[in-house]
Amino acid sequence: STISWKDEDADLGEFAHYMLKEIHEQPTALENAFRGRLDMSEGTCKFGGLNLSRQDIRHIDRILIVACGTAWHSGLVGEYLIERYARIPVEVEYASEFRYRNAPMDKNTLVIVISQSGETIDTLEAQREAQRKGYHVIGIINNVGSTIARENDGGIYQHSGPEIGVASTKAFTSQVLILSMLSCYLGRTRDLSYAEGCKMVKAVQELPALIKQTLSLADSLKAVAKDFAKYQDFLFLGRLEMFPIALEGALKLKEISYIHAEGYPAAEMKHGPIALISEDCPSIVIVPDDETLKKNLSSVQEVRARKGKVIIITDSHEIPSSLADEIIIVPKAHNCVLPILMTIPLQLLSYYIAVELGKDVDKPRNLAKSVTVE
Ligand code: AGP
Repeated sequence: STISWKDEDADLGEFAHYMLKEIHEQPTALENAFRGRLDMSEGTCKFGGLNLSRQDIRHIDRILIVACGTAWHSGLVGEYLIERYARIPVEVEYASEFRYRNAPMDKNTLVIVISQSGETIDTLEAQREAQRKGYHVIGIINNVGSTIARENDGGIYQHSGPEIGVASTKAFTSQVLILSMLSCYLGRTRDLSYAEGCKMVKAVQELPALIKQTLSLADSLKAVAKDFAKYQDFLFLGRLEMFPIALEGALKLKEISYIHAEGYPAAEMKHGPIALISEDCPSIVIVPDDETLKKNLSSVQEVRARKGKVIIITDSHEIPSSLADEIIIVPKAHNCVLPILMTIPLQLLSYYIAVELGKDVDKPRNLAKSVTVE
């Protein structure tokens, strides 16, 4: 009805689209994800509803994360974080594959399902399959009271608020943050030191302010988008936990701009995708200021040697501007939250490219917010 449209317009406030509004809501959404869950005095995080004792946690031999789409990408970031900070082996699987695969699983496997809507049919059926086999399934879910949340054995609500734009933004960064806090909690229950735990908790507390700073890059990204909207193909490259961020960047661009984009681990480029590189196929390379920096810059050089344009997303101030066509600098942060900061320029870039091309950002063709068909 007319009234509900008016309501929706009012909800948009100063923003042209829900996607842009939700991108800018991230400082608050992330604060809601960690409120009441940080314990500085113990250097850990706490969660009320996992329904797992400390002994249960000590006995976990393996974690299996199942999800679809963007939630699956957050699970892949979670794999790197949990393995690094909690030293528990993690596998991440598409829910649609897991439910039909009859995978052999270790006895002491914890299953984590991730879903913004809590209604994705493949994720729900994957949860039911794992429960049928007697596994404890916890959810990282945004939609309170959704089917997946009601049926699982415990979980963590995201509290991101409603996400209306079909392209997930604030729900993704909240999922990554929760997985990062979970890796801290699991680590502290096993062998992460008090000092390391404290650093992680502090990093989480400081995150909303850093997100605000990162959002101030919006105007620069709008300008970059104008120059890059003409291309038909993009590569997104990253190493370690920045690889799933590259996948998520590529998915965002595909979903709302209908531009072909692929994410790859930077070093995989030479095993095939390098054949795509030409002056018509730019690359977006995520370059954290860490031990992978030199390796990433050599990937950048490989692209440029083949006339490919390059946009670097980095937290380093030391990369010479001559090395890339555009360098976007995000604030420095602890490794456990840096993937979140690196995501924001990618969200803004796809948003502004889609706007530049006149696409229907909030309701892209062929997509639904919640996929309840198989
Ligand atoms: C995200 O931008 C997508 N629209 C899509 O991949 C989504 O993440 C996927 O369908 C899973 O949805 P869920 O989190 O609600 O389960």
